[in-house]
Amino acid sequence: MNLFDQLDTTENQALEEISRATGPEILQQLETNYLSRKGILRGFFGQMAALPDEQKPQAGEAINRLKKVIEEKITEQRKILAAAPQTRLPEGFFDISLPGFEKVTGSFHPVYRTMQELSAIFVRLGFNIAYGPEIETEFYNFTALNIPLDHPSRDAFDTFYLSDSSVSNTGRLLLRSHTSPVQVRIMEKTKPPLQVIVPGKVFRPDTPGPSRFPMFHQIEGLMVDENVSFANLKGILSLFIREFFGSETRMRFRPSFFPFTEPSAEVDISCVICGGTGDRCPVCRGEGWLEILGAGMVHPKVFEAVNYDSEKYTGFAFGLGVERMAMLKYSINDIRLFTENHLKFLEQF
Ligand code: PHE
Repeated sequence: MNLFDQLDTTENQALEEISRATGPEILQQLETNYLSRKGILRGFFGQMAALPDEQKPQAGEAINRLKKVIEEKITEQRKILAAAPQTRLPEGFFDISLPGFEKVTGSFHPVYRTMQELSAIFVRLGFNIAYGPEIETEFYNFTALNIPLDHPSRDAFDTFYLSDSSVSNTGRLLLRSHTSPVQVRIMEKTKPPLQVIVPGKVFRPDTPGPSRFPMFHQIEGLMVDENVSFANLKGILSLFIREFFGSETRMRFRPSFFPFTEPSAEVDISCVICGGTGDRCPVCRGEGWLEILGAGMVHPKVFEAVNYDSEKYTGFAFGLGVERMAMLKYSINDIRLFTENHLKFLEQF
């Protein structure tokens, strides 16, 4: 800040402090702070030396003017205090007529709220909630999920690795890139039947953009029992979609590929903005459909990795992005808004 700006700031501050002074001792103290031989204004005179010659007279004048303003304000405040001693409240005085302090109450973050809403729907459909670690091993994040060693998602460009060296035979440590490793952790510990969802954070080294952020949230779903079929997957997801997006929302399955499900599908819903007409719609780009999640029947290789009898048991799994759900439901057009934490944005939810 240059000297003249500093003078302005000091002026505002001094006038404010003086007008708030409730007793002569406080005024005395302020006078010392600002005007004494070691006071703030003295310091400004010191700074003048560093100014170009042609600015010196102007600066000297400004400092002298400020000195006068402060002196006058202190005198004025002394008079006010002297004339109205009753404004000095007795020790311990409590004015019960003053308005109270407004309590600013916080609220849940929209991502957390959406995660709660989504989870509540699945809980009503019979799912339990489970959690897994955000720091994973290559084994759980990839190998046990039948993701081959040369799969591009294992690349350091697509996964945050925490170490170069492997941890015994479970591979390197990494930040999980999806919630699917928790499928494996749960099945290792539990025998079928099971029906769980796993909400949590996932991490991918993406450059932040309107629809990309290096950290986001997913909810994984997993149901395993005898005779669990693709029809069960469709039934659960269609109930879920109607519940979350509204009964007019339609759903479609598109064939897709994931190494840990077979068959695999991507699930679209009719566009929440144009209602599926696609008519000049910027959100679905005229498609009428929006992709919301990946799903499929658990691959026998995954069952093998957890010692489940794949002749006896079948199951489905799905994974959805929580931010994406919130963005579609509340028409939020930039994923970065969730982490900028501006109150103007957060207060809307
Ligand atoms: N894990 C997949 C992803 O992050 C989503 C998925 C989960 C697909 C479960 C199928 C089954 O993209």
